Amino acid sequence: MKKNDLQTPCLLLDAEGLEKNLRKMQNLATNCGKDLRPHAKTHKCSTLAKRQIQSGAIGACAAKLSEAEALIRADVRGILITGPLAGMGKITRLVNLLRIAPDTMLALDNRETASQINTALHVENISMDVLVDLDVGLHRSGVDVARAMEFADAISKMGNLRMRGMQAYAGHLQHISSYQERKSATLSIMSEAAALFRQLKLRHDGFSILSSSGTGTVEIDMAIPEITEVQVGSYVCMDTEYLDIGSAGNPGGFQDYEPALRLLTTVVSANHQGFVTVDAGLKALYRDGGAPRVMPPKSDSLVYDWFGDEYGRISYANVAPRVGDTFELIVSHCDPTINLFDHFFLTSGNKVVDQWPIDLRGCCQ
Ligand SMILES: Cc1ncc(COP(=O)(O)O)c(C=O)c1O
Repeated sequence: MKKNDLQTPCLLLDAEGLEKNLRKMQNLATNCGKDLRPHAKTHKCSTLAKRQIQSGAIGACAAKLSEAEALIRADVRGILITGPLAGMGKITRLVNLLRIAPDTMLALDNRETASQINTALHVENISMDVLVDLDVGLHRSGVDVARAMEFADAISKMGNLRMRGMQAYAGHLQHISSYQERKSATLSIMSEAAALFRQLKLRHDGFSILSSSGTGTVEIDMAIPEITEVQVGSYVCMDTEYLDIGSAGNPGGFQDYEPALRLLTTVVSANHQGFVTVDAGLKALYRDGGAPRVMPPKSDSLVYDWFGDEYGRISYANVAPRVGDTFELIVSHCDPTINLFDHFFLTSGNKVVDQWPIDLRGCCQ
């Protein structure tokens, strides 16, 4: 099958770009002595999580319990659930999951939830590995640095929870546009987390993991010796929100990873001068990061704009596209756009070489 035979809108993954991204991030982690446990919240695809593991990753991160369930159903192991959960329904599901995948870890920030999980595990006579979720400034979850010691001490007394370390995800720093500002904010925040990690390591046996990072700070985080593993997500697909931030080698852009993810869209109406209508609108492209970019990225004559739920408008300066022509778009925010589709089509040049189900799609519980 050729790329142009695909029904649109649909998601493409450029096989060569993907391979480069997998290799580059794995090499970076390995060369710096860190483990890579990539975040599956980005791609929501167990096949891709397995490719990351084949490339050297030690497992996968899941944002939600249902993502972990789907990964484990697909035989992915080494899961870290990075987000908080609450309520007995979820705790029962967690315990069921641990029976199948006992190495599943959870980041915790609430003493009452920890105690409820501990009790549920005690009843079943099983234990689990947990991390202290540290709030390093995002304030979405995690315990404050000043209260982390007390929290860790309390968790360590819960007989069915094995405290293995700490998570410190600085989500608020990932997209800081200036590389120098991102670097100094990261080093300042992470040095505090690292100091706490050293203290907790001395205080608690088995406290050996410090999991951190996103695509925007990973290179900076690599210089922090205490960090043992990174939980990057977007690098594998990329999007314009990341492509537009500054990087170490280029203040105006971030070209370290390839934009492997593209959305293929077709011109369905062309009755006006200056623009055509394509078949990808709000239901195919998540809007929060702005409009997608028409490939090739440097073309300034083709500009996408929103045209309702089902459609977009691509304006042109020179040659009028015709009905049936296709365009590849780089999406602005990869995670929520991927969550709108059932499959990735793997492409190599103009050929479609594989199709991977986005089997974690809609797993938001
Ligand atoms: C807890 C957590 N860890 C890691 C990541 C991965 O970050 P990125 O996609 O920027 O690499 C995210 C992304 O939102 C996240 O929420």
